[in-house]
Amino acid sequence: MKDVYILSVETSCDETSIAIVKNGEDVIALTILTQMDTHANFGGVIPEIASRMHTENITMVLEETLNKAHMEVKDMDAIAVTYAPGLLGSLLVGVEFAKVLSYVYDKPLIKVNHLIGHIYANKINNKMKFPCLALIISGGHTELIKMKDDYDFELLGETQDDAIGEAFDKVARVLGLKYPGGPNIEKLALEGQNTYKLPKMVNDNSYNFSYSGLKSAVINLVNKEKNKGLEINKADLACSFQTAAVDELTRKLEIALKETNIKDVIIAGGVSANKYLREEIAKICHKYKAKLNLPDFIYCTDNAAMIGAAAYPLYLKKEFADLDLNACSNADIVENS
Ligand code: KG4
Ligand code: ZN
Repeated sequence: MKDVYILSVETSCDETSIAIVKNGEDVIALTILTQMDTHANFGGVIPEIASRMHTENITMVLEETLNKAHMEVKDMDAIAVTYAPGLLGSLLVGVEFAKVLSYVYDKPLIKVNHLIGHIYANKINNKMKFPCLALIISGGHTELIKMKDDYDFELLGETQDDAIGEAFDKVARVLGLKYPGGPNIEKLALEGQNTYKLPKMVNDNSYNFSYSGLKSAVINLVNKEKNKGLEINKADLACSFQTAAVDELTRKLEIALKETNIKDVIIAGGVSANKYLREEIAKICHKYKAKLNLPDFIYCTDNAAMIGAAAYPLYLKKEFADLDLNACSNADIVENS
């Protein structure tokens, strides 16, 4: 079969990224322009600034990606774009840009759900096997999904309140760490011990998660100690929080491994870059003789290569989008099954 080249665009949050992916798994070129330093000044992503920066930079990101690949848009077989979920203004920049490329170069347009992109990051340099359990752990989502085949998603459980990445970011802020909080908590936790007793979360047999209780417990603890004029051991608290947050994931994954007897596990989303989390999940997988597929670090956080990988099965099925495609701030994975 002829090789399929997909040019993919990702602008759902604060990374402007474009990639060229061959046959859904070989990354020919990838450019990621992060706005992190700008937003760090404000302690979080400012949507208005994010969309303006995407607009300013996207053409340059395209040129750089094409140059790296020594290819042109006319060499592509399709244009893929993240249309949901994410910041509406940011998504719109990518969607409109992809629509223009699709129209001008007469290439089919493929719409990709950002979370499905995170799952398909595992297809790059890796083989995703089915059936598998997928843990989606990002700034906006915490979901446990069963996949029987490509684009066959069954939601087993999800967070009832905050997402795990959101909890990392909020706890980081109360500890005085810079945005994005996750990597900074991970770094600080390396210098500390798990000494603070924090509450267990949804202690039932469901597959659902909860992070707001844990987050509030950390915030209350910090405030109480401050009011008493006592010093908090930030490294110990970072370590205790990280341990509790990861424990919530491994407990639910363990139930799923036991009940479904599935032997392949993938993790997806920005929080999957956390090394402690990777180790703990690997231990649970080992216990149940399941294979854990981990995306390379570069493909854990937002990037367009994962969008190209997720677009490929849709290309094969000729599931193309119309030029009236719109961006959407919310979208479930399961509705894409
Ligand atoms: O997938 P992602 O890049 O964007 C969303 O779609 O949300 O995930 C971003 C989230 C942020 O909450 C960030 O703090 C978290 O992933 N994150 C981490 C780590 N790296 C990124 N959390 C814990 N440990 C990390 N090493
Ligand atoms: Zn993401």
